[in-house]
This record gives sequence, structure tokens and C-alpha cells, in this order.
Amino acid sequence: MNVILLLFTVAATALAATPADWRSRSIYFLLTDRFARTDNSTTATCDTRVGKYCGGTWRGIINQLDYIQGMGFSAIWITPVTAQLPQDTPYGQAYHGYWQQDAYSLNPHYGTADDLKSLASALHARGMYLMVDVVANHMGYDGASNSVDYSFFNPFNKQEYFHSYCPITDYDNQTNVQDCWLGDNKVSLPDLDTTRSDVQVMWYDWVKSFVSNYSIDGLRIDTVRHVQKEFWPGYNEAAGVYCIGEVLDGDASYTCPYQKYLDGVLNYPMYYPLLRAFKSTSGSMGDLYHMINTVKDNCPDSTLLGTFIENHDNPRFASYTKDMSLAKNVAAFSILADGIPIIYAGQEQHYSGGSDPFNREATWLSGYSTSSPLYKLLARANKIRSHAIRQDAKYLTYKNYPIYSDTTTLAMRKGFNGTQLITVLSNLGSGGKAYTLSLMGTGYRAGTRVTEVFTCTTLTVNADGSVPVPMASGLPRVLFPTGKLSGSAICI
Ligand code: NOJ
Repeated sequence: MNVILLLFTVAATALAATPADWRSRSIYFLLTDRFARTDNSTTATCDTRVGKYCGGTWRGIINQLDYIQGMGFSAIWITPVTAQLPQDTPYGQAYHGYWQQDAYSLNPHYGTADDLKSLASALHARGMYLMVDVVANHMGYDGASNSVDYSFFNPFNKQEYFHSYCPITDYDNQTNVQDCWLGDNKVSLPDLDTTRSDVQVMWYDWVKSFVSNYSIDGLRIDTVRHVQKEFWPGYNEAAGVYCIGEVLDGDASYTCPYQKYLDGVLNYPMYYPLLRAFKSTSGSMGDLYHMINTVKDNCPDSTLLGTFIENHDNPRFASYTKDMSLAKNVAAFSILADGIPIIYAGQEQHYSGGSDPFNREATWLSGYSTSSPLYKLLARANKIRSHAIRQDAKYLTYKNYPIYSDTTTLAMRKGFNGTQLITVLSNLGSGGKAYTLSLMGTGYRAGTRVTEVFTCTTLTVNADGSVPVPMASGLPRVLFPTGKLSGSAICI
């Protein structure tokens, strides 16, 4: 092997992004159809109600990478890229990508293979990662379960590759959840029989070539709970990159065990108490406090989970409350708790759509404002997180430690040895009183000067170890040792 080829091979191998590589990342999640158009339009109409393609493309994403990177994100997760059922169904079109028919072709609405490859290169040139959503549980068909023409599917072009039809009726019955079909008689989601070894081989071969063809750095895997657990290690291994699975269940004892089969899962157990704590000024901090510990105890590695408060399957946070302080608190939690932060496009613009399809608004209609309050808050939160990661080799694996809670406040700590980052959250809302919280348990030594990084206020740790944290208007507070901010471009 000549030297150039050898170097190329080494570089190509080194490019496969591992779970450890992903731990420090921060993910911006977007629906390709709804994020950005090739023509850069910020006025093209997109009526979420009708469920049709609105014109977003991979080229459009390339055009807006400054906007994403300007908020401090170091990776994007895009919705599935494979070719979909082409019809207009009673539920609209497959603009979201979860109704695939041909795993070996791309969805032409988003662009060409070269466009997708260019997106990967453009991200890599900025040191960013590409995560792509994939579906192994099912294909999609316009029509009733008994009318499916299996020859439409590639590579699963025969009925024998699928479970025979039965509807999912009982989420407490795992066999029913795994072997029966999602969807209904308007749009069927034929359920692959992933216990068959030929189906396994076909998927593992596919995922290996898919990741390599498009230089993908990570996968978000759809509907993981609908496939037997034993299918996933082979899939994750064939992918050769970090895989994060969607197990849509808030029970940590149900969701966490999936992490024995996949690198990570979306942190749905945290999502529900996080939402309950902040969606009003009377939410429960105690439940969130306990869930931080429950997830640490139950999940094999809480630092490889995906932490979020919004996605395309749940009502936007601002559909519950328009209070900006509450929105800032949940955004700060998402970035500064354990795991890989995931922010859903439009969250930074305080979009407020309700359930699917209303939560899938076109981001371009915001004009990509970089001066919105949440855009700025996310930029600052990502920046301090990245700085803490650089300052403290253990920041990422230090398990988030809740140090204080009362009925309206939660404080938590990550990192140690004097470099710890402290996050103080409040659900008092914008009308919250101004007061000084005397916070114990930070681990900072008496006399240490710490900076509140959203307001650039400097505080001094008291002789008894307490930190006088100035709370106001229900805003989140984030503390970091002042002496360790150099090089951060934060408050200096
Ligand atoms: C979960 C996805 O996030 C959702 O949008 C999709 O409709 C279902 N899985 C089915 O694929």
C-alpha cells in the first residue's frame, strides 16, 4: 500500500465518530423539508395543517450552517433521507421521511446524492457532525394493510420479509408492540420481521454502506421499542458510528435497558418531568430532581443520552406557556444536564405549534433571526458548556448532581476540582421576585470568585461555602469560576 493510500485509509477509519466523540457534541435537530430552501426564501408559504412538502432541501441546510453554528451547535440531526411513498395520502405527504419505500434511493424532494454528500462535507469542513435519522422497523404504504403491494419496497420486496398484519393495541404487551404494525388503514406501516436472519443481513449491509456512502457520523434510530432488542447490537456495530435510539417511553426502567443494545437513547424519562416542572409556575421540581438520580441509576450511561425538551412528535414548549423565562430554563437544562443536548429547529425562535403537524413550522419564516432571546441564550449555554469541556477533562463523564431544590428552584452541578459548572433553574416565571439564593453544595472554596455567565455578574463564595446567587424574573443562572474563564470569550 502506498503512503497516500495508507494515510487515506487511516483518516477514513479515524473519521467514524464514536460514542466518546459524540459526548461533547451539541445537536440541532431539523426536518429537512421545514428548515431551509435552496432559494433561501424566508417567505415561501408552509401550512403545517395540510402536511405537504414545503420545499426544504439539503442545499438549503448548507446555506444556513452559519445560523446553526452561531448558536454553538456542533452537529445536526436531519430527518430520514430515503425515498418515500410518493402519494398524497389522507394524512398528507411523506415530507417528514418516516414512510420509506426504497432504502437504496434518496428522497428527490431534498436534492441529489451529491447534495447530501456536499452537506456532509460542508459540515465536516466546519468540524461539525452529520446525524441522519433511519427507520428499520417498518416501510410505508398508501392504503390498507390488506392492499399492500410489497414489490414497491426495496430491498424488502416480498411479503415474507414482514410480520403478518395485526394492529398495535396494547403497549404493555411487548410482543404486540414488536410484532404488530404501526400506522392504520389509510397509511400502513408494514412491520419488518426483524427476527429473520435474511432481514437482519439486509439491514446490516444497508446501514454499513449507507453510513460510508454519505460520510455519516451518527444515526438517530426511529421506533426502537418496536423491534426486538437483540436486533440492535448488530445494527449499531454495522453502522460503526454512534447510534441514538428513540424509545418513546417515560419510564426509566423500560427505556434505560435499551442502552445495553444501542450506544444511547433519547432521554424520554427526563422529558416528562422536565416539561412538568417548567410548563407552568406551579410545576414540580421534586419530580425532576428525582428523575436526574433515577436516570443516573437506571441507565448504563446517562452521559450518552440525548437531552431535549422539544421535537417533532410533541407539542412545542411554548404551546404550554409563552413565558420566556420558563423557556430559557428548559433550554438551559437541555444544554447543561447530562448527555448530548438536542434542540429542535424553531425552539430558538420560541415557536409555539401544538401537536403534530402544528409543531413542524418552517424555520425560514422566522427570517433566521440571530437576535432572538432564545438564540442568544442557547449560544451562551453552548459556549459555556464547550468551555467547561475544554477546562475539565472529566466534565462530560461527571454525572449531573442535583445539589439543591425547593418548590420553585433546582440547582445542579457538573464537574469537580474547582472547575465545576453550576446551573440554577427557577420556575417562578418572568414575574418572579428578585432575591438572593444562598446556595450550598457547589463545592467551590470560600473566597472563590465565580461568574454568572448570562449576566456577567461576579460573586464571591462566602466563608461558610454558600454562594449568594442573585435570582430575578425567574431566569436561569449558570456559575463558573471567574479565574477559569480565560479563553472562553464569555464575560471577559
Ligand atoms: C417516531 C418519529 O419521530 C415520528 O415522527 C414517526 O412518525 C414515527 N416514529 C413513526 O416512524
